[in-house]
Amino acid sequence: MKTPIPEYLDEICRNARRDTSGSPAEYIPELANVDPEKTALALCTPAGKVYSTGDDEHLFTLQSASKPFIYAIALRDRGIDAIDDIIDVEPSGERFNDISVDPDNGRPRNPMINMGAITAHTLIGDPSMTPQERVDYAIACLSDFAGRDLDVNVKLRDSELTGRYRNLALAAMARSNNYITVEPEDAVWGYTTQCATQVTVRDLAVMAMTLANGGKNPITGKEVIPRQVCRRVLSVMATCGMYDAAGDWLTSAGLPAKSGVSGCIFGALPGQVGLSAFSPRLDEVGHSVRGIDMLEQCSQSMDLHLM
Ligand code: DON
Repeated sequence: MKTPIPEYLDEICRNARRDTSGSPAEYIPELANVDPEKTALALCTPAGKVYSTGDDEHLFTLQSASKPFIYAIALRDRGIDAIDDIIDVEPSGERFNDISVDPDNGRPRNPMINMGAITAHTLIGDPSMTPQERVDYAIACLSDFAGRDLDVNVKLRDSELTGRYRNLALAAMARSNNYITVEPEDAVWGYTTQCATQVTVRDLAVMAMTLANGGKNPITGKEVIPRQVCRRVLSVMATCGMYDAAGDWLTSAGLPAKSGVSGCIFGALPGQVGLSAFSPRLDEVGHSVRGIDMLEQCSQSMDLHLM
């Protein structure tokens, strides 16, 4: 049996359902077909206790919420300095799929925008890996964060790949400057597969808590990434995780967070809590309307604002 949830989580989720503004992402055909009313909220404590409410068994794809975790693995596997030479850590202030690069050298602005994230995907594991091996490795690493074996929604992945050309252009640009050294098609295929990894809101809360816990999964006890890497990832999430709404988010909710176009969002407050919410209706920036609302409400009720 699941742990009974605190009253206020239930109330926050119930209230969020009243907002019917926004609509699911349309540029990925399969995402446009999801049930827009699905809404869920979860919280994981440092002791690994997970509280959840709403549609908490519903599976959704991580999309951009996969980016901080894969960036973390690249930092762990290749070292912070080596990755810094390839992917910058400056907020772009632009949309997630814009061509956001350092004008002097073409280096992707940060690992949270698509260009930097596609590049980060190619930098995990061993450089000799095949695209399939790299994807298997990415899913295994995401599973370590979640504490259970995750899988990929292949139908959704293939649906996104039919419209891959913008990401392909971003990968080709990074390839032309040698930040990506594999074929752009392979980089985009691997990254898109990573984005199609499926989780529940409970899984995502555990993944968030692993980041909030210095890199140690609170349930399995596995040290997934070193504390130093964790600090780096959370800092980049705080400044770049919410794209061109990062400033609004940090001032209102006050904790490092990352969103995904499936309608998920997670927040991680070091040493305290991993939070996650899901609901497919998006605002104009591409964030879940109800997800933002639920995490902001949690931040207020639990006094989580960092400042
Ligand atoms: O590459 C894409 O466009 C998607 N796979 C992920 C984008 C995304 O989730 C943006 N975040 N809100």
